[in-house]
Amino acid sequence: MRLAWRFLLPLGLVLALLAWATSPLLGDLIGRWLRKDVELRSQLVFYSVQDAVIRLAKEDPLGLRLDTLFERITRDERLLAVGLCAPDGRLLNHTPNWPLALGCPPVPPPLAPSAAPPAPRYDIEYLGDDNLLIASFSLAEEGRDLGRLLILHDLSFIERRSADLERYLMIFLGLLGVLVAALTAVVARLTLKGWVRQVRQSLASAGSGAIPDPASDPEIAALVREARDALRELELPRGLADAIRVDWTPESLRHLLRSELPEAQVIVVSNREPYIHVRGEDGRIHVQHPASGLVTALEPVLRACGGTWIAHGSGDADADMVDRRDHVRVPPEAPSYELRRVWLSEVEQEGYYYGLANEGLWPLCHIVFVRPTFRAEDWYQYVAVNRKFAEAVVAEAQSPDPVILVQDYHFALLPRLVRERLPAATIITFWHIPWPNPEVFGICPWREEILRGLLGSTILGFHTQFHCLNFLDSVDRFLECRIDREHSTATTGGQVTLVKPYPISIAWPPTALAGQPSVAECRAQVRAAHGLAPDALLAVGVERFDYTKGIADRFRAIETLLERHPEWLGRLTLLQIAAPSRSSLASYRHTQEEAKAMAEAINRRFARDDWRPILLVPRHHEPAEVFTLFRAADLCLVSSLHDGMNLVAKEFVAARDDEDGVLVLSAFAGVSRELLEALIVNPYDSRAMAEAIHRGLRLPPEQRRERMRLMRSLVSEHNVYFWAARMLLTASRLRKRARIQTRIEEVARPFGLGWRREVGR
Ligand code: G6P
Repeated sequence: MRLAWRFLLPLGLVLALLAWATSPLLGDLIGRWLRKDVELRSQLVFYSVQDAVIRLAKEDPLGLRLDTLFERITRDERLLAVGLCAPDGRLLNHTPNWPLALGCPPVPPPLAPSAAPPAPRYDIEYLGDDNLLIASFSLAEEGRDLGRLLILHDLSFIERRSADLERYLMIFLGLLGVLVAALTAVVARLTLKGWVRQVRQSLASAGSGAIPDPASDPEIAALVREARDALRELELPRGLADAIRVDWTPESLRHLLRSELPEAQVIVVSNREPYIHVRGEDGRIHVQHPASGLVTALEPVLRACGGTWIAHGSGDADADMVDRRDHVRVPPEAPSYELRRVWLSEVEQEGYYYGLANEGLWPLCHIVFVRPTFRAEDWYQYVAVNRKFAEAVVAEAQSPDPVILVQDYHFALLPRLVRERLPAATIITFWHIPWPNPEVFGICPWREEILRGLLGSTILGFHTQFHCLNFLDSVDRFLECRIDREHSTATTGGQVTLVKPYPISIAWPPTALAGQPSVAECRAQVRAAHGLAPDALLAVGVERFDYTKGIADRFRAIETLLERHPEWLGRLTLLQIAAPSRSSLASYRHTQEEAKAMAEAINRRFARDDWRPILLVPRHHEPAEVFTLFRAADLCLVSSLHDGMNLVAKEFVAARDDEDGVLVLSAFAGVSRELLEALIVNPYDSRAMAEAIHRGLRLPPEQRRERMRLMRSLVSEHNVYFWAARMLLTASRLRKRARIQTRIEEVARPFGLGWRREVGR
């Protein structure tokens, strides 16, 4: 319809203007034709009655028969009256409606004498605003002047006919205009539809190299080729990240950001902040680094890129360290980015953090047989806090299209809330924990809201392809949505979300490695600190005290090991450090109590002199302490029952620059897809885990080295800068593609052609 108006209105107006401009000329032309026609008719009438008039004028002096003849002539409706004038100018006869006032027109001057008999003369005169025509014909016989025959014509019909003609002309041109416009619109629409389809195909098939046959339409083929070249250029960065071996460092990430996303403002949103200011017992404020895989991964990225990190200010001295806008520059030792703190009330924390996030979504996604709890009050707080953080994002945005990195299950609703306020933003959401299958996810009462919230993202990342597929299956099951499994996208309400695996990692080399003593010193230090013999074998476990980490299962495996392989009695100690976490929740308290009780029971059972098989240290350790521990260990145990990635495994590998040490790793942690040289175990099977520990302790040094070398090379290459680079490159590609699509939309819109936004692979 819009298209029709766009074509019809202007074209109709042009034709009407044309008709209006040309109609007076045309009317004039037609008037002249008709007058000429009347003149010819007068002559025709005169020649047909000339003889009869002469004869009757001679034979019938009273003119009675002439009257009858004249009356017959005037039956023609446009022939008003006929009159006969004597040679001396007297009006002899006339029809009754002859205007007497008119009389006889003056006698024209005589013609010069000639040898040939004179042709009958006639004169034309127009009267009454050209509405009357008098044709005057001379009557002569054998050279004798017999007077003149006058024929009076009514010309008013000419005006009427001209007006009619003008009107018909206008209507005709109008109709013609409509027809031409409609035809043009149809042809244009068909042509453009074809054009847009081909360009769209080219956008979709840029990777495959398929373009339309140039022979069939060379112009379109040329256009498509251009578009394809542009798209190929966009594909290059993806190739760079995936195919070319780049040593990803803070510097190369910075460079990438400058070149691929110039001017883009980076905003990170997470619940946990990277630096917590706490007041010690002595009243002094110090900085704590939280035990959080998310923070471990994101912090080096923000150091490299700069930007703003928005997080909950959870430290008791946090408020003392911020400026008027709740900002503090971090890292404290060398500030390079802004930390914006958001304050939450007790009620908000209870409902949003402890309730919905950690008693609902955390057990829901981890499937470790802890029942998720969903309460409506928690959901209201979750919604409210997501809104609060979305407001903070909008307030921090300095342009309409920042790059926003949304982190984890605390903010499932935030991507859509931000999208509504900043439609041009690039929103990259990363879900750090597993995503369950649709059956499990379906028990969440707010499953649709959560899925819709996440689908506000431009890119949604998980650690593994398996979790991506679970997510797409959930969307498929619970939402009206178009899912493209080939390109891994979900489209709802015109928003396309790319769902991709981006296995997270750690900084390489890790910051905590700097300043570490040699491995030999670490070994000696840690053993002395924990009262172990200098040659004691040490296994370490490093976690938050969380039921997903399988700490009790690990203890059970140590017990089984000692039962089955008593040669390790008195020789092997498991040093388990566990940072207290979410302790106000019953499920966590129970896990912690259970683990403590189990450690005590096993220690009681196997203790010898001052040797204990398990040392459980339930307190927070700073990263440097953790690294010293890793370096001191013979073996590291990661026995998560379910884990998105688990960065402890990668940190252990990173800490071992001596290329020694054995990693025993749960098959249910995402990291087991990457660190294939670890000894992979099922943590639910204590016997198998015990055997893996046994085997690990007996691995020959060359094998340990070979395995560690391979794992280190993977983590060093696929470090966290690589992780960020891949997502940012995809984001840059999508931004460029969106720009091209916007241009095509601009071209297609005036023709009323719709355009479906597409996100590539
Ligand atoms: C996991 C989550 C993170 C969280 C971390 C620590 O790694 O994915 O989002 O920060 O646990 O948990 P906490 O509740 O202390 O932040």
